[in-house]
Amino acid sequence: MLIPSRMIRVILSVALATLLLSLTPFADAKKPSEKPPGVAIAAAHGLATDAGLQILRDGGNAFDAAIAVSSTLAVVEPISSGIGGGGFFLLHDANKDRDIFLDARETAPASATPQAYLDKDGGLDRDRAENGPWSAGIPGLPAALVHLQKHYGRLPLKTTLAPAIRIAREGFPIYARLAKGYGSRRTVMERYPGTRAVFLADGDAPEEGEVLKQPDLARTLELLASKGFDGFYRGDTADKLLAGVKAEGGQWTAAELASYRVREREPLRFKYRDWDIVTAPPPSSGGVALAEMLHVLEGWDLSKLDAAHRTHVIAEAMRRAFRDRTIYLGDPDFVEAPVARLISRDYAAGLRATIHPDKATPSDLLSGQPAPLEDDETTHFSIIDADGNRVSATQTVNLLYGSGLIPPGTGVLLNDEMDDFALRPGTPNAFGVMGFAANAPQAGKRMLSSMTPTFMLSPQRVTALGARGGSRIITQVLLGILGYDAGLRAQQVSASPRFHHQWMPDAISAEAGALDAGTIAALQAMGHKVNAGESVWGDVETVEWNRATHTLSVGSDPRNPVAKAEVVLAP
Ligand code: GLY
Repeated sequence: MLIPSRMIRVILSVALATLLLSLTPFADAKKPSEKPPGVAIAAAHGLATDAGLQILRDGGNAFDAAIAVSSTLAVVEPISSGIGGGGFFLLHDANKDRDIFLDARETAPASATPQAYLDKDGGLDRDRAENGPWSAGIPGLPAALVHLQKHYGRLPLKTTLAPAIRIAREGFPIYARLAKGYGSRRTVMERYPGTRAVFLADGDAPEEGEVLKQPDLARTLELLASKGFDGFYRGDTADKLLAGVKAEGGQWTAAELASYRVREREPLRFKYRDWDIVTAPPPSSGGVALAEMLHVLEGWDLSKLDAAHRTHVIAEAMRRAFRDRTIYLGDPDFVEAPVARLISRDYAAGLRATIHPDKATPSDLLSGQPAPLEDDETTHFSIIDADGNRVSATQTVNLLYGSGLIPPGTGVLLNDEMDDFALRPGTPNAFGVMGFAANAPQAGKRMLSSMTPTFMLSPQRVTALGARGGSRIITQVLLGILGYDAGLRAQQVSASPRFHHQWMPDAISAEAGALDAGTIAALQAMGHKVNAGESVWGDVETVEWNRATHTLSVGSDPRNPVAKAEVVLAP
């Protein structure tokens, strides 16, 4: 059930933002500004936002700040991401006017064959898929931090990792989400001595208000700061990671760690009405799905539809994009997905023609179960600096606290990203999404992701946005884009009520209060199953530079009480 006070906060926040919007006249500056009037950061934890702002004050650029924010989130949000996981960083280098997609997704070790994840009856061994050493891919986040510093940063890693190292060593106060999430993963985490040493250091489970110190993680980050890539993927840390995985029955090799590489990829680009969308290409499914959905939706003037029909066509677009995600997408280094076709307007026109204006299209198999609610998985941050450099980054260890396994002496909580592969074709993963051959595991392959860091650009407005929350990331970003397009400001975009459809299960999930009773009844009359009244989900962190009004604004998700977004104007 929804916690009423949280929803009230969401609604009040939307109302306040709407009021502010109506009171804040846009300056009618003739010439769009060339540079932002300051800096802005939005991140899912205040300590990470503060770390990034400090680095900007110390002379760093948005990419240096991204290293500080990313590594600090890795320390203070082990429930969501960490250096034992991976992520995607969408960058805009203002000097070169160039966008870069940095792919630091985990890769499959050679031991991770499809057979390794089947139980004795040929079903999916869920424990192997989601918990412990077999669920973990080779981490990518440390390599991303090193790559960001080497190619885009101004400051040394010793400076940009310093806040994370200090917080890991001195500790930070445990907040409610962290303590609650520990409770739900406790039996898995307490299987492993390395994990117990961190989370049961004081003899009992973490509680809200206690201080969590991670001295091994501080040392591991120091090695990364002093030795770069080799400080994590070779030598002492690598030896401990390999030993810890082996001790729990997993099989990683030193060569698999040492040969991990981030990939720089061309971002996916397309137009939605007057906007240029720059977003995540495969191995994210997010950008392709966004393009499909937005191109389908271009066929309607959404502002002219009543709430029920607007929700209906958006849900139908979601349904179709998630079906294609399931069938076609995977790691582009291994499979050739028909991306050009999927993001073409002609393809979208064909999909649009299959949408009945007043009737739900049944998905092939009707289950009617709510899509699994993934609230705290993954994390997102957005940054813009005073030169116009931007970062939109989403990072993850997959499910809450990843695999639950910390190899002793490292402080590194390993991901359980292997569950994002189609480990058993057609069997839904923890997010309820399926896959087939394109996303089958293979040595060195990256698993399909829903992480969707995005820029949305018009001549007047420059935004960076993204979200957490498993497969629901994609639909949060979609609703965020539709919100910005409808004229919402950053804070309204973060606060907007959410709904979601992912083809299977065949149902619209909606936060309590997101759809009114009349809209729900109208959708049901069209044949939709509506799971209204779900608990709030996700976390949208976004920044916006309005070049016409020469203003910066930020959106911090009111669903997350520890999130923080801040604008600091240049003196
Ligand atoms: N592990 C969540 C995602 O990458 O989609």
